[in-house]
Amino acid sequence: MREMTQNDHAGVVQIAESLPEWFDETARSHSIPIDIQHQRGFVAVQDGMVVGFVTLYVAEGRLQIGWLGVGKAFRGKGIGKALLYRVEERALELGLAEVATYTLGDSVDYPPYEQTRLFYFRNGFEVYQRNQTDNPGCPEEIRIRKRVVPPSAPANKDATHPLLEPD
Ligand SMILES: CC(C)(COP(=O)(O)OP(=O)(O)OC[C@H]1O[C@@H](n2cnc3c(N)ncnc32)[C@H](O)[C@@H]1OP(=O)(O)O)[C@@H](O)C(=O)NCCC(=O)NCCS
Repeated sequence: MREMTQNDHAGVVQIAESLPEWFDETARSHSIPIDIQHQRGFVAVQDGMVVGFVTLYVAEGRLQIGWLGVGKAFRGKGIGKALLYRVEERALELGLAEVATYTLGDSVDYPPYEQTRLFYFRNGFEVYQRNQTDNPGCPEEIRIRKRVVPPSAPANKDATHPLLEPD
């Protein structure tokens, strides 16, 4: 797991290309290739190959996840969770109290994004806003967030999150 560099961009786009159930044609061929040139991020690398990625930007006072993906062959091994830890760690470094993103709402029956929501909820995210949109591909968007609290905060003295454990 390391910071994404320009050399990783082709690998990131390759993963996005392999996930058409989550990333539509516009995202795969336009949005993601452009956004990764402007967003920071982290990649998970195995045998020199990018197997997972997350991109980040700051907006509305939160560290926002732009794009997140793990290659299908590498799912369920904790890579997504590890990427999220790095995101939370980065939020703390930046002095930001929340990590956030948005995804397809649960009023839309589309199993791939049901998995995505489960992943985020399982990892401590909660819905803070629901928006109806006129985008046929995403008629309901949920905005989700997770608070990240620095180790010194008394409210989290019993937290077991690895990032909050002392060295
Ligand atoms: C969502 C995604 C990044 C998860 O990556 P992953 O490496 O498979 O996830 P992990 O193995 O780290 O799982 C972390 C936790 O989430 C849970 N989880 C992951 N996928 C899940 C699913 N489909 N259903 C239920 N729980 C799930 C795991 O059980 C694990 O929980 P645990 O630690 O309590 O066991 C990956 O499935 C993916 O790339 N999805 C497609 C793209 C996408 O949805 N991107 C986000 C929207 S842009």
